[in-house]
Amino acid sequence: MPDYRRRAARDAMSVRLDVNGMMAEAIGQAGVGGDEVDGLAVRAAEAAHSLQAKRAAGELPFYDLPSRKDTLAAAKALAAEVRAESETLVVLGIGGSALGTKALLGAVEPTRHVVVADNVDPWTFGKLLDGLDLTRTVFNVISKSGETAETMAQFLIVRDLLLRQLGAVDYARHIVITTDSDAGALRQIVHDEGFRALEVPAGVGGRFSVLTTVGLFPAAFAGMRIDDLLAGAAWMESRCHDAKLWHNPAHLLAALLYLADTQHQQNVVVMMPYSDRLHPFASWFAQLWAESLGKAETVEGAPAHVGQTPLTAVGATDQHSLLQLFADGPVDKVVIMLRVEDHGRELPIPAAYADLDSLAYLGGAGLGQLLNREQHATELALVQQQRPVMTLTLPQLNPFTLGQLFYIFEVATVFAGALYHVNPFDQPGVQASYRLMYGQMGRSGFEHEGTAVEAWVARKRSEYIL
Ligand code: PA5
Repeated sequence: MPDYRRRAARDAMSVRLDVNGMMAEAIGQAGVGGDEVDGLAVRAAEAAHSLQAKRAAGELPFYDLPSRKDTLAAAKALAAEVRAESETLVVLGIGGSALGTKALLGAVEPTRHVVVADNVDPWTFGKLLDGLDLTRTVFNVISKSGETAETMAQFLIVRDLLLRQLGAVDYARHIVITTDSDAGALRQIVHDEGFRALEVPAGVGGRFSVLTTVGLFPAAFAGMRIDDLLAGAAWMESRCHDAKLWHNPAHLLAALLYLADTQHQQNVVVMMPYSDRLHPFASWFAQLWAESLGKAETVEGAPAHVGQTPLTAVGATDQHSLLQLFADGPVDKVVIMLRVEDHGRELPIPAAYADLDSLAYLGGAGLGQLLNREQHATELALVQQQRPVMTLTLPQLNPFTLGQLFYIFEVATVFAGALYHVNPFDQPGVQASYRLMYGQMGRSGFEHEGTAVEAWVARKRSEYIL
């Protein structure tokens, strides 16, 4: 196992950001000019200093998660305990309380069975519950607020099932709660029913919480080296200090996306990993970018309506579905490719059909080689079509490189928030649908909203329903 305390080990596993395909030099007018980057330098330095001051004042604790030993120790200790008792961990959570864990589990092969249930679809959730041996299953209920409707509904179903099948003495051993240390209904339930529990550090919201107990506990249960994950994040942290854009990969990434959006009308950002294992990571990024930056107002309350729309694609699969649009459709997209140099496994392609040119060239290569050459080929094809593209290259996909990826995108998101002048930590637009749902479900205090939904359904014109 590499020792990441050694500089050489960290250098060898560094994730590299290549922005050649973003620049006007490569793709003409659709690209960002070096002068545009330089023109942003003063604002970028101000944003960096302001974030630094808030960090120093303890207002942005997500920055310091890579070096928090308490969350690491708590997650490891409880994971070891739960691994000794059970075969399966079922995570109940949604949004930021699920997507990071899905990204972790997707990227690194688990040695224990972990399932993330992040929807209230009765078909899939019912099927999941039907197939479990409850005596060997632990449910990790994750909710920072401790009150999210979907997660609480799942919790109520699971608790009832456990009580009925395992009895009032044993059921509590099958639930682990991850929630705020003080606030919310779940914390109160922990106190009342004595469930084992982990704390989400104060001030760290859902989509920034993957490097807390939220992601660390399920990852440790799955057998992942979570020390390496945090070491990777810490390594990226050390590379993202400089206030100068060209010396700070996270800030440069954010600045280029910001300039692409605001100066070049490229308001769609596609994350396209050339690795199936990073597809869930792309979904994690999509939530982070969308929920953090899609805002109606600036921090001062002025109208903003900003944010790039994130999309996910996977190479090479989506070269056969979405690439046509990326290459020839509107010039409104930036593609972020993720490339893994060494996939950890190679499948040689046997040589055969020497007389058929359309097959013969494949023989003797490997599948990973083909995949990586397709990444280079598609990057250049986009550049030739004058479409902006940047690439992050991982020497391997392992916890150390994954930790770097999580960290660079979290810092980039917060820095982009500063450039857009919006609050990346709230999500006011999400609340309206919740209030309307509460009204329909009969939650007290939301009667007016319930009536509004009924009225909307009643006033739909039948001629518009075919
Ligand atoms: O990123 C966020 O803050 C949200 O996506 C939340 O994670 C999501 O709404 C779930 O919230 P909670 O963890 O409070 O259940």
